[in-house]
Amino acid sequence: MTLNLKNQNDILNLENLNSNEIEYIFNDKPINRLKTKPQLEDKKKLLLELKNEIENIDNCELKNNATQLVFADGNSESKIMVIGEGPGQKEDERGRPFVGDAGVLLNKMLQAIQIKRSNIYITNVVNYRPPNNRKPEPSEINRYSNFLRKHISIIDPKILILMGSTAMESLFGSKIKISKERGVWKDLIIHNKTYLTMITFHPAYLLRQAEQKKYSWADLKQIRKKIDELRISV
Ligand code: URA
Repeated sequence: MTLNLKNQNDILNLENLNSNEIEYIFNDKPINRLKTKPQLEDKKKLLLELKNEIENIDNCELKNNATQLVFADGNSESKIMVIGEGPGQKEDERGRPFVGDAGVLLNKMLQAIQIKRSNIYITNVVNYRPPNNRKPEPSEINRYSNFLRKHISIIDPKILILMGSTAMESLFGSKIKISKERGVWKDLIIHNKTYLTMITFHPAYLLRQAEQKKYSWADLKQIRKKIDELRISV
């Protein structure tokens, strides 16, 4: 049975309750009364809309030179979201992020802290391979950061992991240095919501600079600790 509104005050209270982010359900049966948004169906629909929006981007050198869109990989229900820079050759061929050499190292890094890749959600700053694997231009990073912010809002992760300086620049601006910013928890605010964020080195950088792996390992251990504190299942 649904709620019976007896007087004007009840109506006002109900309007108040439903005016914020949380949708309250009134019922006299034992149900989950707090329905958090977005729901699974909404999420899939929003992701599809975002994918279409990126597919329809105009005047983009990245799109014009790439084979296909590389949108994301993994579990869209995950509480952990990883963001890289952009697709390389293998990713461009296969339409999935992090499937080349950097992806192999990423998988090992995740395994080292007992995370199964299929349990997390992975995307990139730009969704088309930059010609000759060049770094995306600041104007491209800016343009795609609107999509990326939407992407983060839809996935709504508890932990966001930014891999490399391009991911850092896209969301925190270009005036900071990854060597100073990595390894500490930061708050990223998007649409009034705060996301707990760790900036760390990109696996492709670690393949070139093996001596930096010790810092990466320290960051990964912090991420594992936070996963345990927040009781996130991975
Ligand atoms: N490097 C990235 O940043 N992303 C990929 O998907 C592959 C390599």
